[in-house]
Amino acid sequence: MQLKWLGHSCFELAETKKVLIDPYISQNPVAPKVEVVPDIIAVTHGHADHLGDTVDIARKYGCRVVSIHEVSKYLEAMGIQCEKMNKGGTVAIEGVRFTMTEAVHSSSIDGGSAGCPAGFVIEDNISVYHAGDTALFGDMRLIGELYRPEVALLPIGGRYTMGIREAAIAASLIRPRVVIPMHYNTTPAIEQSPEKFSELVSSLCPSEVVILKPGESFELR
Ligand code: NI
Ligand code: MN
Repeated sequence: MQLKWLGHSCFELAETKKVLIDPYISQNPVAPKVEVVPDIIAVTHGHADHLGDTVDIARKYGCRVVSIHEVSKYLEAMGIQCEKMNKGGTVAIEGVRFTMTEAVHSSSIDGGSAGCPAGFVIEDNISVYHAGDTALFGDMRLIGELYRPEVALLPIGGRYTMGIREAAIAASLIRPRVVIPMHYNTTPAIEQSPEKFSELVSSLCPSEVVILKPGESFELR
């Protein structure tokens, strides 16, 4: 699987299908100017830095969107084809399995209600946990035990999500082979040192921290 980081919480996972997660691209000051053509879009919650360009990309390429019930209702009203789901459930879309997990955060769209925030475990030969925006919570250990993700994509920016102290403990609860930090250095409010995060993780568990620059990819076999 090729995991490409497009900055903030946006990743493209390319294996049998191309899955785009939280496509905050056109308004993201650090996103690379690349064309993304996904098969499926996954949205963790309604905040603009996650919902991002979902409507434009889904319309342009006719791809389906997987998101929590309330976000799906919003998107369906805009003519987007959605796969509604909720936490604890799994849905297979074009052979890719999406399990929706807990996230401790808030959610809204343009200030209106958008249900709850979530994370995803996405399985396309390789299992990837995208934590969404979240605080640290103890049941991350269960996510690790149940779904055995090989990769965990964890927010480290602080202020709106976990910082490095909390995210390092998250890594030690989940115990993936690889951790890739996200949701940092997009704006000064979430400035963070991924190197310090890497040192903290090394002190707690054997997971390898892979630090990407926006636009860079990591290949996992
Ligand atoms: Ni958020
Ligand atoms: Mn966010």
